[in-house]
Amino acid sequence: MPVITSIEDLRRLYERRVPRMFYDYCETGSWTEQTFRENSSDFADIRLRQRVAVDMEGRSTASRMIGQQVAMPVALAPVGLTGMNTADGEIKAARAAERFGVPFTLSTMSICSIEDVAAHTEKPFWFQLYVMRDQEFVENILDRARNAGCSALVLTLDLQILGQRHKDLKNGLSAPPKLTLPTMVNLATKWRWGAGMLGTKRRFFGNIVGHARGVTDASSLMTWTAEQFDPRLDWDKVRKLKDMWGGKLILKGILDAEDARRAADVGADAIVVSNHGGRQLDGAISAIRALPGIVRAVGDRVEVHFDSGIRSGQDVLKAIALGAKGTYIGRSYIYGLGAMGEAGVTRALEVIHKELDTTMALCGRKSIAGLDRDILLVPQDFEGKWA
Ligand code: GLV
Repeated sequence: MPVITSIEDLRRLYERRVPRMFYDYCETGSWTEQTFRENSSDFADIRLRQRVAVDMEGRSTASRMIGQQVAMPVALAPVGLTGMNTADGEIKAARAAERFGVPFTLSTMSICSIEDVAAHTEKPFWFQLYVMRDQEFVENILDRARNAGCSALVLTLDLQILGQRHKDLKNGLSAPPKLTLPTMVNLATKWRWGAGMLGTKRRFFGNIVGHARGVTDASSLMTWTAEQFDPRLDWDKVRKLKDMWGGKLILKGILDAEDARRAADVGADAIVVSNHGGRQLDGAISAIRALPGIVRAVGDRVEVHFDSGIRSGQDVLKAIALGAKGTYIGRSYIYGLGAMGEAGVTRALEVIHKELDTTMALCGRKSIAGLDRDILLVPQDFEGKWA
């Protein structure tokens, strides 16, 4: 068993164990990948204030996200094709999250279906929705999420069309993978992955196949997003969806203060400051740079969450200290999942928890509620003087 001490350790193992096509899908941004890179590198520009001789006994990372008790303010983000990183991936990730005491968010583009994940977990999870053209599909999937006991809807606002990721086009990304010669050569070296996949029936987009009409190639993410996603999404539709769902609503993909205000006007329970991990609009500002302005813009009107670029517990701490009430990890847990299955997700959560707790202590704080801007050294021009 390898000794895992960081998320980077998991990423390396993940790269070795998972077929290239799915590694590339995860580890990519759109076009030049500038935003993808800056999401992480901008975190490193923020430094921490070391404090000493502060009693650090009795610390806790426990907190709340949309009223829900969490062991630390870190949820598992919705990630498409999670179940292609390892067999039954969504079920494994949901179980690890449930045991750790953090929320799991199931993507519309998951391999295991909503019902399947519900049948293999005990606590309610969150469900993420893309808005599709087929109204009946949307109504139906919201019913399915409600019936499965999902306790929040995470509505994605930044993906009506899919950003171009060069690698996915070059690799011919599909679920399950089409057996071209290069893919077969690559799969031949991934025996662990292959054995798992041979042992499961869950190899297709479980929420789509058999549910959505008019999809000509249900194995191709690119084809069915182009055919199905609704480019007409606007704030009016967001309001209607909120009423249709009737439960807790989280609006994901906010990167602009003006949009944050609109989202608060809709009456969402939370917004997620996110640029989709740099996978959509390349050239957009990093999410961590956008966070302070958005927190100022909405104040207490809506809970602000943060996603995009987190690879450590220190990153979590920085986002919380800048005003986020909760954060999401996507790639950081997918590395663990592809590397070591359910145990790898648990390990990713443990690594992040340890880093968060230790950093909090060395900054002289004992609780999540006690983290504020005062523990950070933020460059004066961090938010940028853009004209
Ligand atoms: C889906 O959300 C993706 O980023 O591919």
